Amino acid sequence: MDQLPIRLAEAKLRMYEQQHVLEMLANLPEQDKNKLAAQILEIDFERIAKALAGRSETKKLNNDTISSIPFEDWEDFDQGEKAAYTEKGWELLRAGKAGVIVVAGGQGSRLDHDGPKGTLDIGLPSHKSLFQLQAERLLYLSRKAGKSIPWYIMTSPDNHEATKAFFHSLQYFGYPSKDCFFFQQNTMPALDHDGKLLLSEDGTLMLAPSGNGECFASLKRTGAIADMKQRGLEWLFYYNVDNALIKVADPAFIGLAASRNQMVATKVIEKTDVDEKIGVLCLKNDRPAVLEYNEIPSFIKDKRTNDGRLFYSLGHISIHLFKLNFIEEHADTDIPFHVASKKMKYMDAEGSIITPTEPNAYKLERFIFDFFPLADEVTVVQGTREEEFAPVKNKSGEDSPLSARKLVQSLHRSWLRTVGVSEEQLQGRDIEISPLISYNGEGLKAEDWSSD
Ligand code: UTP
Repeated sequence: MDQLPIRLAEAKLRMYEQQHVLEMLANLPEQDKNKLAAQILEIDFERIAKALAGRSETKKLNNDTISSIPFEDWEDFDQGEKAAYTEKGWELLRAGKAGVIVVAGGQGSRLDHDGPKGTLDIGLPSHKSLFQLQAERLLYLSRKAGKSIPWYIMTSPDNHEATKAFFHSLQYFGYPSKDCFFFQQNTMPALDHDGKLLLSEDGTLMLAPSGNGECFASLKRTGAIADMKQRGLEWLFYYNVDNALIKVADPAFIGLAASRNQMVATKVIEKTDVDEKIGVLCLKNDRPAVLEYNEIPSFIKDKRTNDGRLFYSLGHISIHLFKLNFIEEHADTDIPFHVASKKMKYMDAEGSIITPTEPNAYKLERFIFDFFPLADEVTVVQGTREEEFAPVKNKSGEDSPLSARKLVQSLHRSWLRTVGVSEEQLQGRDIEISPLISYNGEGLKAEDWSSD
């Protein structure tokens, strides 16, 4: 067996004071040594040290100037303007210039669902999974545009195979499999609170998906950017897998972004509850930025306008459009890591499995919005909360499958009311409208919903 990688790994562990891993390496069976050594050789300890050193700085914004960012409210446009932007979006979809990226590499630890988050059934009458709802919205648009929309699905090493198997077992929900590109995101080692590497039960290093900000780098590493270029894409619609109301590839948003022609566009909703767990868009030192909810100092978070609204109210809901050029240009840009303290089960130096009751580990994550300051300007458009945002984060209570299901069904009921279905007709009915029939409430007729 080639001993060189093992010797190099040992030297690296000594240099970065990771003696416990050195002991582990010495005690492993020969065939496992190379695997651990290879993992160690991949680690960029300097980068980790930098991330940990910056940890305490993240919550301070003392030296930064925060101000409001210009935005447009979709509802301020008249019908003619809305129609023109939407038509521009359709033009791009018809010309095959827009693709979609879903980030689905997270661990979904708060949800505690057995499987990738996108496979979750939120309890709609149809029992469709989040992935299926998204696929059908895309199918609807693709059919109408006469052009299939390429869909890039970011997974992690933990859920890649399970995600692909789910799509495969359900025939990709009718979506063309050649237009589904699964790509695995990057990971980072998990560390204890003293900066020591944590080990998994099988004697390998514990690696965790390192945030949705790995998207651009992972698109590049896996050849997805090359695929996008080869298909002639110009715009990529980016969203979180866990928003049950996501208007995937929304033509209106695409058209508006293309008209403003900045490198980045983002859709926001008005944040009305000061404690809502969403970040806000602003200018930080005159550059576009997002302040994450747990990093906003209260003097910014609580600031109000004269009429009592939140001053920083542009709620970030992870719905973006990126120019492909921007993604390519920044695929190697070193955006910072945010450090979160989490509970992580690990194996100690004696080989015992430890299940912590308190957070014991640092997880390093990069966030997609840290690319925003790299754009000179970001197009910010405010949409309507009830039409755009139904997050599924927790097992129960707020932002749960149940709250998301209620939001989806309440939107669908409102669509029916708009076309004249009466309250009596809706009474007692478990309403759900398939995305294959209507994307945004269009094409519905009251007579189809009469109860007799
Ligand atoms: P969240 O920050 O809500 O994290 O992700 P999560 O992993 O889904 O859930 P918790 O925090 O463990 O409970 C927001 C979006 O970013 C994706 C998620 O899949 C979700 O769509 N994400 C998150 C990634 O793709 N990769 C990551 O490393 C982290």
